[in-house]
Amino acid sequence: MASTNRNLNLETALEDARAAYVAAHPVSQEYFEAAKSVMPGGNTRTVLHYGPYPFTVVKGEGARIHDADGHDYADFLGEYTAGLYGHNDPVITATVQEALKGGVTLGGPNLVEAKLARLMCERFPAVERLRFTNSGTEANILALGAARAFTGRTDILVVDRSYHGGVLTFTGDSPLNVPFPIHRMDYNDAEAAAAKISSLGDKLAAVLVEPMIGAGGGIPADHGFLQTLRDATRKTDAMLIFDEVMTSRLTRGGLQDHHGISPDLASFGKYLGGGLTFGAFGGRVDIMDHFDPARAGSWGHAGTFNNNILTMTAGYTGLSKVYTPEVADAFFARGNQFREALKDSVSKLDLPVQITGLGSMMVFHFADKAPTAPLDPASIPNQLLELLHLDMIARGQFYARRGMINISLPTTDAELDAFRAAFTETLETHSPLIREAVSEE
Ligand SMILES: Cc1ncc(COP(=O)(O)O)c(C=O)c1O
Repeated sequence: MASTNRNLNLETALEDARAAYVAAHPVSQEYFEAAKSVMPGGNTRTVLHYGPYPFTVVKGEGARIHDADGHDYADFLGEYTAGLYGHNDPVITATVQEALKGGVTLGGPNLVEAKLARLMCERFPAVERLRFTNSGTEANILALGAARAFTGRTDILVVDRSYHGGVLTFTGDSPLNVPFPIHRMDYNDAEAAAAKISSLGDKLAAVLVEPMIGAGGGIPADHGFLQTLRDATRKTDAMLIFDEVMTSRLTRGGLQDHHGISPDLASFGKYLGGGLTFGAFGGRVDIMDHFDPARAGSWGHAGTFNNNILTMTAGYTGLSKVYTPEVADAFFARGNQFREALKDSVSKLDLPVQITGLGSMMVFHFADKAPTAPLDPASIPNQLLELLHLDMIARGQFYARRGMINISLPTTDAELDAFRAAFTETLETHSPLIREAVSEE
């Protein structure tokens, strides 16, 4: 299904790549068209949409997925980091199947929830107490709500162009966002952030930040930036919240542990549910204990599926039996090694391509310099990203169109090598177009 790119200019190369994709995915196209009559644009998760239309996934096995058209792909999307365990980890699958037999909507505290909560409290240093939710978005909303209730203040400071969930999207002004009074700062600009926190003074309830920007480009925070946020929020008694929905997988104790910086609250999600719907937030006991229902004036937080037995079981099994601290350490090293190898191969092409990230999460950028903050969307060469993405799909390699690559645990060394070879060849094929498109920026 490889396209025969004419490569004359970006438009014709893209036309060829799109035509090859459409020719190779007729069944997916039918599913896509049929879905349009009941879901807007045939879609229920904006990030899963890409042109000409996304292929329909029918099955996952290990670190591979299969589409409705009979193609097989190495899965480097890794469900935007939630797919850490791959598609059917045998240990997790077995315990979930066992749990199914005992009933799934039990309507009471179960045997597993406190075990998972305990493990997470042990793993993530800032977490003394924790509560579960159903998504990372919900975890962030509740962490922000808790910070506002605890401080008696209103305002929130976030990173410009950051993403913390479907209703906490800070690229542009989403009309769907929760209506908190929001202020923005630039990522990795410690001095400006300290000045902003100080000027917001006793209006500021919380600073919400990812210790590595995930969706916005796999951009690690400087240690000094995070330390400045910690020091500045302490001075004004604002809460510091680390969103570790993505980054907690990077090391045994997340990036809070890696940096040795303790936020007041932290939010979690994705892989920690062992592949099932998950979210959690937690932190200082004096804040979290306000959720104790026996306490006078406690903060209520219900949620029908907060402790659902399948997620609790999958999450606990994953963290206790599969992604142990030792495995997390080794996987961090393996991800770093792969990223360095990828960078090395790409650097030989002498192209304006940068690869950023940490451990098993990385993002490539068409730029002359590695970004230190999320890029202005207007400066992103979307056509180049599309061309690369479609050509890599044609080579049986799948990752996020915006350039995000996540490794999952079952990925073999041979699959890593194959990805690196395909990626380097695809870049090489289009090198004149890449140089031209990036120099026009
Ligand atoms: C940093 C970050 N926070 C929060 C979320 C939202 O999590 P969920 O999709 O589970 O609502 C995401 C999802 O991609 C995320 O990347």
